[in-house]
Amino acid sequence: MRKMSMVLFACSLLLIIFPSCGYAAINTSSPLSIGQTLSSPGGFYELGFFSPNNTRNLYVGIWFKEIVPRVVVWVANRDKPVTNSAANLTISSSNGSLILLDGKQDVIWSTGEAFTSTKCHAELQDTGNLVVIDDVSRKTLWQSFENLGDTMVPQSSLMYDLSLGKKRVLTSWKSNRDPSPGGFSLEITPQVPLQGLIRRGSAPYWRTGPWAKTRFTGFPQFDESYVSPFSVVQDLAAGAGSFSYSTLRNFNLSYINLTPEGEMKIYWDQGKRWMHHVTEPEHSCDLYGACGPFGLCVRSSTPKCICVKGFVPKSDEEWRKRNWTSGCVRRKELSCQANSQGKDTDVFYHMNNVKTPDMHQFVSFLDAEMCYQGCLGNCSCTAFAYISGIGCLVWNGKLVDTVQFLSNGETLSLRLARSELAGSSRTKIIVGAITSLSIVAILIFTAFMFWRYRGKQNDAWKDEFEPQDISGVNFFQMHTIRTATDNFSSSNKLGQGGFGPVYKGILLDGKEIAVKRLSSSSGQGTEEFMNEITLISKLQHRNLVRLLGYCIEREEKLLIYEFMVNKSLDIFLFDPTLKLEIDWPKRFNIIQGIARGLLYLHRDSRLRVIHRDLKVSNILLDEEMNPKISDFGLARMFQGTQFQYSTQRVAGTLGYMSPEYAWAGLFSEKSDIYSFGVLMLEIISGEKISRFTFGDERKGLVAYAWESWCESGGFTFLDRDLNHSCKAFEIARCVQVGLLCVQHEAADRPNTLQVMSMITSTTDLPIPKQPIFAVQTQNVETSNDGSMSKDLFSVNDLTHSVIQGR
Ligand SMILES: *[C@@H]1O[C@H](CO)[C@@H](O)[C@H](O)[C@H]1NC(C)=O
Ligand SMILES: *[C@@H]1O[C@H](CO)[C@@H](O)[C@H](O)[C@H]1NC(C)=O
Ligand SMILES: *[C@@H]1O[C@H](CO)[C@@H](O)[C@H](O)[C@H]1NC(C)=O
Ligand SMILES: *[C@@H]1O[C@H](CO)[C@@H](O)[C@H](O)[C@H]1NC(C)=O
Ligand SMILES: *[C@@H]1O[C@H](CO)[C@@H](O)[C@H](O)[C@H]1NC(C)=O
Ligand SMILES: *[C@@H]1O[C@H](CO)[C@@H](O)[C@H](O)[C@H]1NC(C)=O
Ligand SMILES: *[C@@H]1O[C@H](CO)[C@@H](O)[C@H](O)[C@H]1NC(C)=O
Repeated sequence: MRKMSMVLFACSLLLIIFPSCGYAAINTSSPLSIGQTLSSPGGFYELGFFSPNNTRNLYVGIWFKEIVPRVVVWVANRDKPVTNSAANLTISSSNGSLILLDGKQDVIWSTGEAFTSTKCHAELQDTGNLVVIDDVSRKTLWQSFENLGDTMVPQSSLMYDLSLGKKRVLTSWKSNRDPSPGGFSLEITPQVPLQGLIRRGSAPYWRTGPWAKTRFTGFPQFDESYVSPFSVVQDLAAGAGSFSYSTLRNFNLSYINLTPEGEMKIYWDQGKRWMHHVTEPEHSCDLYGACGPFGLCVRSSTPKCICVKGFVPKSDEEWRKRNWTSGCVRRKELSCQANSQGKDTDVFYHMNNVKTPDMHQFVSFLDAEMCYQGCLGNCSCTAFAYISGIGCLVWNGKLVDTVQFLSNGETLSLRLARSELAGSSRTKIIVGAITSLSIVAILIFTAFMFWRYRGKQNDAWKDEFEPQDISGVNFFQMHTIRTATDNFSSSNKLGQGGFGPVYKGILLDGKEIAVKRLSSSSGQGTEEFMNEITLISKLQHRNLVRLLGYCIEREEKLLIYEFMVNKSLDIFLFDPTLKLEIDWPKRFNIIQGIARGLLYLHRDSRLRVIHRDLKVSNILLDEEMNPKISDFGLARMFQGTQFQYSTQRVAGTLGYMSPEYAWAGLFSEKSDIYSFGVLMLEIISGEKISRFTFGDERKGLVAYAWESWCESGGFTFLDRDLNHSCKAFEIARCVQVGLLCVQHEAADRPNTLQVMSMITSTTDLPIPKQPIFAVQTQNVETSNDGSMSKDLFSVNDLTHSVIQGR
């Protein structure tokens, strides 16, 4: 009964969101004739017949309804105009496809697909999407958004899918008067991260730089702080990607057009006028490969082409004639190629304000130093760049299409023989020396810090320990903390964390703090302690709990955090009355906040941090119920070039641990994603992973989520006590994302970046694989991995046990 009403409820939602039912549409008995128009329900777009300037040719097109001059965003019969005075756009009564008939009843254009249903109608949606819908099943059979012309409007998208061999691109008109396909196309490339690319015929003509989380690089007018209205989703495992306008932000009408001359133009609507926002290519330097391999096109100088540092023109004569096509060649051979080892290693020259060359390769090195080391250590690496929002890119072989701007842009580090830098002018020596000295200093410092952690596992380190030496984090005296916490009285105890109790304290100035007292009996060593302090002092994000200070005295080790008024998420989520305070919008906000915090930990912070013990009790809530991730006790900096770490010491909470972590001790971004998936399912359902069971077979929460998703799309999975929520789509989407995150194979799970965009956009989601839990519950005995008992994976009978194997 309850399920039934939810279904009905969801259906009524559908009707509200797509209020097109019963709206004027094209069908077999009501065709669209010349002179008539069909407008979208909200009056944003209009469909009808039009003729381009000074021609008598008629085309069926879509344009912005009340904006003059008229901007046509889509054309049906691009290469075959209607030339006589009668025509109808209608639905074929024989096969249901949308067809354009002329006066002689000849088919001029059709959607080209035979549909199984003949009872169809075509309607124009408020997004500008013309769709053919089956009257019976209400399925969308065809849409103009999947058959783009030369223009993109918000919510339409470009895409590629390597496995299906498909891509969706823009193709220019032949001329302003002829909409038939012209010589230019705009597409997104399957590179990682992807780039936008205009081709002339099949040759590259212009490209953006690689996508950096919120913007395309390669536009000097947009720096790191710019958040473009576009979004990019790339699924590396499936070999697919898409580029679209963000649907979250409420921008004015806008469109992207590829002109017959091969320019990409972006316009915004400013009331009744189109404001011109971007034109690319805008400078002759922007044309692809303008200066040949290893050439650098400098926007601000003439002649525009120079060779990059350490290179000379391949042919002086051609270069003098300003024929740049053959580019430049290396002047001094790299020592790397001469002998792979030796004192005389290569050096890097840093070029600032550049658009990075094409053919980048993304490597999952963790920070700029590792990126540098990784490139230095591989002879085929000619350059690298560490770009905020992307990470480490390297280039092997030729550098093509490098442009230098006056300001902004990225820093490209170019591999050169040592003598190239030493032999030049004095200032450069100094610059070079300072650069390499600082790199050396950083390396020495890093090595020193590393050595310290490693070496200081015994007690000897305390003698050398200087309390003040961690920047941004205060050292507290033990007596201050004793006073603040009333000598760690039990009435001040907030809870028991993984590594010891947490107390509330009030400092003399009235400031509230949370004190984590690391239990000495746990044997929890100085290693974790120092790890946690150093890590957290560097990590600052609104969705992470802030470390204020620490205290250390003999055996006692304390961490002092900001105090969170609303304590932790489990207190709300699993309490029959308090749970009502976090309705779906709040829960969704919490999910998004955690994802943002996690994205920061995984991708955006200077250190790459894997949390390893993400769970509801580690999510704290501030006074506005904003989530903050706490407890980095298990977080471990990624060191070296390994993307995945193997550890002897598996520490974490059962139920939240990914199979590869629990079994093999392998942890990675993807194991945190697993925990995040579990967390999402708990937040949606309000049920504990460790307690919840249903059905005769006592199936667990993940199995329940799976069944709910299969049966209802997932929205019935929402906490039963929250029946007044009204975001069925959002809920179902979150359940699906949760299921994607808890997939058995790490490779199948989305990465954090993908999870973030799945949660914040409305693009299509991949289909999750059936969780192993759901199938295994009945025949766990057959598991042939003898080392682990079946209990580890039947989540039913577990409580909050923490394994600290060592
Ligand atoms: C066609 O659409 C008109 C309204 O646009 C509607 O009145 C009519 O019933 C529809 N005909 C069929 C066969 O669906
Ligand atoms: C267009 O449709 C109308 C109404 O169904 C019909 O009267 C007319 O003959 C049709 N014209 C053409 C060219 O098919
Ligand atoms: C659908 O029918 C029309 C005629 O009504 C025809 O021109 C068109 O080719 C058909 N499409 C397919 C895919 O069979
Ligand atoms: C139509 O012609 C006018 C004048 O010839 C010109 O300014 C305008 O840009 C043309 N419009 C299009 C879409 O070509
Ligand atoms: C959006 O449109 C309004 C008028 O409808 C205008 O005042 C405003 O400047 C526009 N915003 C932008 C960013 O163009
Ligand atoms: C420029 O140089 C290339 C290769 O060296 C040559 O093929 C081409 O003809 C030259 N172009 C011109 C305009 O001289
Ligand atoms: C060096 O880089 C190339 C190209 O990415 C790669 O194929 C090769 O395996 C790397 N070599 C080493 C030793 O990592």
